[in-house]
Amino acid sequence: MNDNFLKACRSERVERIPVWFMRQAGRSLPGYRKLREKYDMLTLAQTPELAARVSIEPIELLGVDAAIIFADIMLLPIAMGVDVKIVDSIGPVIDDPIKAVADIARLKPFEAGDVDYLQQTIKILRTELKVPLIGFSGAPFTLASYLIEGKPSRTWTKTKCFMFEEPQAWNRLMETLSDAIVRYLIVQIDAGAEAVQLFDSWVGCLAPGDYRQYVLPHMQRIFKALASKKVPRIHFGTDTGAMLSDFSNVDCEVIGVDWRIDISEARRIVQSKALQGNLDPAVLLANHRIIERKVDEILGVLDPHVGYIFNLGHGILPGTDARKVKMLVEYIHSK
Ligand code: CP3
Repeated sequence: MNDNFLKACRSERVERIPVWFMRQAGRSLPGYRKLREKYDMLTLAQTPELAARVSIEPIELLGVDAAIIFADIMLLPIAMGVDVKIVDSIGPVIDDPIKAVADIARLKPFEAGDVDYLQQTIKILRTELKVPLIGFSGAPFTLASYLIEGKPSRTWTKTKCFMFEEPQAWNRLMETLSDAIVRYLIVQIDAGAEAVQLFDSWVGCLAPGDYRQYVLPHMQRIFKALASKKVPRIHFGTDTGAMLSDFSNVDCEVIGVDWRIDISEARRIVQSKALQGNLDPAVLLANHRIIERKVDEILGVLDPHVGYIFNLGHGILPGTDARKVKMLVEYIHSK
């Protein structure tokens, strides 16, 4: 059993730097592309034998030190009764988004029985994997942004206006989502997930003061509710440099950062937790020499053998060559 990833999460010294990638499952890997010719993404995620194969492919092909469940952040809203479609080259689309307080009541409380498939997937993975398995959920802000906008957005104006104009309804929505997230993650942990990551992919669009007022209390509550489960908790967001000191006040073991902040600066701000990140995913589209130079720039400014997990700052980009990703894993492991 390779437990370097879990050791690094707990800030214990490791011989070999652990590495995994957001969006390592799916995307451009050949086995996944082949399955996608026959099945859509949600069907794959909801069929345990197939979902497990997608999670295992990067372990075998790339040699990464952790697996991530093949799922999507929108599976939780789906379990809560929301009609979500994953539309090619757009992303998650909801035809009837949340517009008013009354719409929040349409969200059905989450029940473990709504994700039987996920529990089965996790059980298959735990018998087959020799690396730790990461469970995950979207964080309440990022989930709320899809539920309110109805589709991916670049400005998140509907979400922000709802938050500013209807603060009580906003809190209701965040509490409803937070309760579901905690239960959803506990289901994953009880089924065998050995670490959990909260993806707050779009929270960096907020002013830091608004983050503190409208989001942080909910994040604190979620992470606290998971403490007794004793698995490492990873708190990931993008464009969150200005919120990093608030992130570091949340009860979690690891903070994931993107490339818009120097990792040395993140290390200065986040002192008593492990860090995960933060190579710009675009670097993987450049040549080998550039990839190695950019990796060296990151590894050179912290002690990468204590409290550090190598990852990109966000998901692997479409069109990334799997051979370069494998080369990158070998390069990290040689350090
Ligand atoms: O990381 C992994 O390899 C595990 C699987 C995973 C998926 N989605 C599968 C997926 C994970 C961890 C996610 C999380 C997710 N989903 C996030 C948070 C991480 C992030 O990227 O910020 C978000 C915001 C979503 C919402 C979502 N789902 C988007 C924006 C899209 C479409 C755009 C895209 O990146 O392809 C999806 C669909 C989706 N989720 C696909 C996959 C493999 C693509 C479906 C396909 O065409 O094959």
